Amino acid sequence: MKLAPLVGLVVGSLAGLGTAASPRWNLDSNDYYVLHLERDVQPDHIASRLGLRHEGQLGQLPGHHIFSASVKTEDDVVRRAVQERRRKRSLGGVDVLDSVKSVHKQKLRAPMQKRVVPPPPSGRYPTRRADQPDAKAVEYQKSVMSQLDISDPIFNEQWHLFNPVQLGHDVNVTAVWLSGVTGKNATVAIVDDGLDMYSNDLKPNYYAQGSWDYNDNRPEPKPSLDDDRHGTRCAGEVSAARNDVCGVGVAYDSKIAGIRILSKMITDADEALAMNYDFQHNDIYSCSWGPPDDGRSMDAPGILIKKAMLNGVQKGRGDKGSIYVFASGNGAASEDNCNFDGYTNSIYSITVGAIDRKGLHPYYSEKCSAQLVVTYSSGSGDAIHTTDVGENQCYKGHGGTSAAAPLAAGIFALALEVRPDLSWRDMQYIALQSAVPIDFEEGEWQPTTIGKKYSHTFGYGKIDSYALVETAKTWKNVKPQAWYYSPWLHVNKDIPQGDQGLSVNFEVTKDMLKEANLERLEHVTVTMNVEHTRRGDLSVDLISPDNVVSHISTTRKLDTSSEGYDDWTFMSVVHWGESGVGTWTLIVRDSKVNDDSGKFVDWHLKLWGESIDASKATLLPMPSDEDDADHDVTSTATPTAATTSLPPPADATDTAIPTALPSDHPERPIKPSKTTGESVATETGTESAAAESTTAASSWLPSFLPTFGVSSSTQAWIYGSIGLIVAFCAGLGAWFWFVRRKQRLNNPRDDYEFEPLNPEDAGGDSLGGAPGEKGQKRRGGELYDAFAGGSEDEEDQETGHFDLASRDSDDDSDDDDERGNVNNEKQGSRLLGDGR
Ligand SMILES: *[C@@H]1O[C@H](CO)[C@@H](O)[C@H](O)[C@H]1NC(C)=O
Ligand SMILES: *[C@@H]1O[C@H](CO)[C@@H](O)[C@H](O)[C@H]1NC(C)=O
Repeated sequence: MKLAPLVGLVVGSLAGLGTAASPRWNLDSNDYYVLHLERDVQPDHIASRLGLRHEGQLGQLPGHHIFSASVKTEDDVVRRAVQERRRKRSLGGVDVLDSVKSVHKQKLRAPMQKRVVPPPPSGRYPTRRADQPDAKAVEYQKSVMSQLDISDPIFNEQWHLFNPVQLGHDVNVTAVWLSGVTGKNATVAIVDDGLDMYSNDLKPNYYAQGSWDYNDNRPEPKPSLDDDRHGTRCAGEVSAARNDVCGVGVAYDSKIAGIRILSKMITDADEALAMNYDFQHNDIYSCSWGPPDDGRSMDAPGILIKKAMLNGVQKGRGDKGSIYVFASGNGAASEDNCNFDGYTNSIYSITVGAIDRKGLHPYYSEKCSAQLVVTYSSGSGDAIHTTDVGENQCYKGHGGTSAAAPLAAGIFALALEVRPDLSWRDMQYIALQSAVPIDFEEGEWQPTTIGKKYSHTFGYGKIDSYALVETAKTWKNVKPQAWYYSPWLHVNKDIPQGDQGLSVNFEVTKDMLKEANLERLEHVTVTMNVEHTRRGDLSVDLISPDNVVSHISTTRKLDTSSEGYDDWTFMSVVHWGESGVGTWTLIVRDSKVNDDSGKFVDWHLKLWGESIDASKATLLPMPSDEDDADHDVTSTATPTAATTSLPPPADATDTAIPTALPSDHPERPIKPSKTTGESVATETGTESAAAESTTAASSWLPSFLPTFGVSSSTQAWIYGSIGLIVAFCAGLGAWFWFVRRKQRLNNPRDDYEFEPLNPEDAGGDSLGGAPGEKGQKRRGGELYDAFAGGSEDEEDQETGHFDLASRDSDDDSDDDDERGNVNNEKQGSRLLGDGR
């Protein structure tokens, strides 16, 4: 379980622990590569073949290994070597490089940004009216303190725990504590800029084994920069001890760990390690950070980080799944939306927004259809009162969604005390089931199919600790996850300007979901490609068969990007509990009538939820980076065939014999000209439905040679490949794999992936099709997949491009919150873009 630090020490001592930004990796003098290898290959053989040094497995990720090169070069020499081999592979022979599935050269990049509260748009902080506390409430508060023996000096200021002024505007936790539930035996890891384990408020609950500093490569995540206060404040909200220092955490008997990643430049590999650190004991990862909340960014985690998060929900916490809690983001004043952030819109994270002590929506807290719940933070002239860096330092200005996420994480720890067997999905169910809707004037609430109310501003409502713990006590664990993926649905139509939008449909039948073993929905994701000269003009609504609407994308006035949506995945929790059967409608709007315009290219619907038959459920295979080549050839004959209920376990993909055919297929083929009209595009309000969808049928295979309407270079590739495929299939009489490489325009990461498409992991595009099913119903489908390049899950993986420059130049001037920092916090570390 402690491989990461071991690797760290090995690398660290090797590197002589210099003063580089990240001594662990010593990227000043070495190059580092993370290679995904077939399971049967010895990493040492790869190392000697490539002249590298094997540094060990990458944390908890099976098959992923770190290699170092003692010579630094701009060039990605490993990638070149593997490509070289791929080119020669058709000539035969055996090469250990055939076992390399992907290569990720590591680079330092700016860390993610902390979600401390930005200055209000007006530039003025509201001051709180000196409301008088309610006498009865004060009485109750005193009695709670005496019953629980709480004598912490600022407990009275911790209105978020008990609010004697605005009655009911707190997390309703006192009765939970009085019942003896205080977070015992649950551990929360604060993934942040450090944690002051020498604070007398945190020391009693500090969990050293679950803590690590990835910025300075050492076991203790002790804050070292002037700016490193954020993590300690978050930790205090969760687990500040019941003693004579400051206040208490909401789960004051829980254990608290610190994982430091936000204080310096970092590699994707280190961030991935952080997300799985001691994941059998760290139960909950509280993450109050993300890409910039500037209303312009559209960033997702890199593939290694995505893999780590999937690995966490599959293998963490004794296979019950790590619980990732993310702050929704503070960019609301810039019209930012948490669906443009790949961490908050991941189905594996619980996204938490903020409300203030009056129960109002604070100007900073972002809306989105991926937001599950909200809880208390700064606004209406006050903020969260918590622990600060120092032996006996308190802070009364903690705020932003940064302060909401740890509070939620602490409340989830209370639930884990009573029900340690809850899965990562159970926790999401319990959170939404017990959430309390608030602020009906502002929230734009809509009823959902299961009798809940949903607001893009407040999610399913605010967390009520008592209700959440009560719900947990009697919760019946849900069955394992299942999923259904539609084919890629091609639209290729200009988006009309104005409010009408371009509307497309996709019909999901009962049989499709039955075949996918999918009983009822939890998350819905839509991956889409839209070209537009000004991205911020776009918005997208997803309407379910039950007529429930998700605003999966919204306009953003500051987003002037001309990149459109490039395989971006939006997520919604609004359809939780629906059957999913019926017509799904997607409406893309370009509501600004101006010179900027665009085209809706294609989309892909994924329904995630609870399985029908638990015994048939399997784990989702690990994603991989992948190219976009399969957009244009949907991988199945009919939408039904796209169901994917039984993927192999992630590991199975690593055991398969390496039979991949080489492919250097460099470009995205032009879509075939066939149209089978599955996705009907209409301009809303008009009848001009042009069924332009090209979900080609598998039956096109026989006629495929003559009709493959692609560019000549692609054709050359195809025809060459067909020869190989035929020879190969005849020779092996079985499956073949395919290897692809992602076209990496504008990708600063230089990762790339050779992902074999075998009958198992190719299934439904490594999204997970039932292997058996696929074999039968998609005989042609295999070839189809081959050309498709298979996995579209993979495509989703690599959409994020982190903008180093923008992060580095981030302005730190508005570090703190509304009330200001009582402890003379210094502002402005160059690397730490605090305030936004
Ligand atoms: C605490 O958790 C561990 C597993 O992490 C379990 O073995 C133990 O029984 C738990 N203790 C209590 C008191 O629940
Ligand atoms: C808050 O806790 C009290 C118990 O102290 C409980 O009666 C009440 O129902 C809780 N609030 C909600 C909304 O469940």
